[in-house]
This record gives sequence, structure tokens and C-alpha cells, in this order.
Amino acid sequence: MARIVLANDHGAVEIAALIKDHLQKRGFDVTYLGVGSPESVDYPDKAEEAVNEFRKGGYEFGVLCCGTGIGISLAANKMNGIRCALPQNSYAAKMSREHNNVNFIAFGGRIEYQDKIEDMLDAYIDSTFQGGRHERRVEKIMSLEGR
Ligand code: RB5
Repeated sequence: MARIVLANDHGAVEIAALIKDHLQKRGFDVTYLGVGSPESVDYPDKAEEAVNEFRKGGYEFGVLCCGTGIGISLAANKMNGIRCALPQNSYAAKMSREHNNVNFIAFGGRIEYQDKIEDMLDAYIDSTFQGGRHERRVEKIMSLEGR
């Protein structure tokens, strides 16, 4: 069963539960790192935990959530090997796989999206990296690490 790591801060408890439920319904084995209650936590800590778990191997991708999705995606993108998308809608979610081959996707619990989060997730999950010229561009992104 494909595995996914999921983590959130207190700004995204409800959408994290929705995402976990949706992923499990789709047959994924979800490692949920919390937080499952509105206790205040720092989103960089949750990003680091999730990336460290992902690096243990065997994970298809990771999902991160905070109030806007901005802070937690910024934090994840600071860690080597991580490309975390923060899609605005289903189109961007699909492109984040097809063109950017991201290994993390982030959402905001306090954001009103035009598309359902489940649909954005599905758009990402059901897409495939197109390679070709996009491979070169992704390699260029990764070559910027540490600069
Ligand atoms: C927490 O209040 C909030 O700042 C956080 O969830 C996120 O929106 C940061 O980017």
C-alpha cells in the first residue's frame, strides 16, 4: 500500500482530518504526525518532522497544512531534496506533478479555495511527471539548493 506522510499546525486541524480521511478512502496508508487539536505549535517544526519521516523512505509523497499553507511549505522547501507545492486550485495541483514533480503538497486551513481540497489532491495524485524539458528544469531547481 502506498504510504503518505501528513502533518499540520493548529491552523489546519480540520482540513488535515479531511485530507487524512480522503487519502485513506483512496487506499493510502497515512502516517499522521498531528496536531489533531488546536494546541499552538510552530509550523517549521511540523514541516521538519514530516520531511524527516519522508526521508526514512517508502513514502510516495507528503502533505503539509498550516493556516495559509505558506509557512509550512516555505519551511519544507528549505530542506534538501524537497519540492513542496502550494497549489491555488486543481489545475495548479496537477501541474505541480506534471511539470514540477513535487514530493510534497501544502494546503491552507484558513484559505477559501475555488476547488475542493479533495479534488486538488486527486488532481495531484492522478497525474504523472512528464519528464523531458521539465526534467531539466527540475534539475535546475535542485541545483539551486544551498546557494
Ligand atoms: C499560525 O497562526 C499561522 O501563522 C500558520 O498556521 C500559517 O498560516 C503560517 O504560514
